[in-house]
Amino acid sequence: MKNTILTLQQRKQNQQKITMLTAYDYTTAKLMDDSGVDCLLVGDSLGMVMLGYESTVSVTMEDMIHHSKAVAKGAKNALVVTDLPFMSYHASIYDAVHNAGRLIQEGNAQVVKLEGGRAFCEHIKMIAQASIPVIAHIGLMPQSVLALGGYKVQGRDYQAAKDIILDALAVEQAGATAILLECVPADLAKFITELVSIPTIGIGAGHGCDGQVLVYQDMLSMYDGVSSKFVKSFAPIGDQMKQAFADYCQEVKQQQYPASMHEFAIDGEIMIQLKSEFSK
Ligand code: KIV
Repeated sequence: MKNTILTLQQRKQNQQKITMLTAYDYTTAKLMDDSGVDCLLVGDSLGMVMLGYESTVSVTMEDMIHHSKAVAKGAKNALVVTDLPFMSYHASIYDAVHNAGRLIQEGNAQVVKLEGGRAFCEHIKMIAQASIPVIAHIGLMPQSVLALGGYKVQGRDYQAAKDIILDALAVEQAGATAILLECVPADLAKFITELVSIPTIGIGAGHGCDGQVLVYQDMLSMYDGVSSKFVKSFAPIGDQMKQAFADYCQEVKQQQYPASMHEFAIDGEIMIQLKSEFSK
């Protein structure tokens, strides 16, 4: 059964945790879908882990649509959530609604996500009014890396923690479907989760959220970039891939691969005829 935003709501009500992983292509999306992951996030983190950028700020709407379409094809059951990239909604509410619509119509997303709290409530309200479910991403907002001067835990002092609570309450009021909490203290995230009626999904926000999300290259140790304290490596796939690539190179060089079992045959008589016609 295809998951919808109602699935997320039911999970919160029934106190069952929501699972979300990032996905950026058909093959990985299908593997995750087959494994029972509830939601696939086509995150703008694709700028870093798929395109090799230093941050997410260079990611475009075209990038997001391209990857979202591929993920949607592999997501039979999982809910597909796609990020609105930097500058696709900041300049105007028109941009926000128009680009949210493009992610749904062209990217085949079911839900969009944007980074922002109180400052973006009008955008959230108008996207929701256009019948597009929207997740508000608060706490650490990676698209603000230039203004923040780096990726840091948010909400550690009284005022910063209060600001995140006010953001959460405001985006719920504005019509957000769920809240993504990134890099905030666990007790604060748990408190917000109890305070709001919409589901919270955490990354670096402790166990008290209604669900968890991770960037899949992080949880499989595939990405060479900086890793955070909150990341757990579930399997050393990066090392296994490197070993497999090295084995391939060695076998090709030593003429062990391809072996006869990997080759297609042709009738010997045909080869004799061809050789007699073409031999120098
Ligand atoms: O883009 C992304 O992958 C995200 C996660 C960090 C949650 O927003």
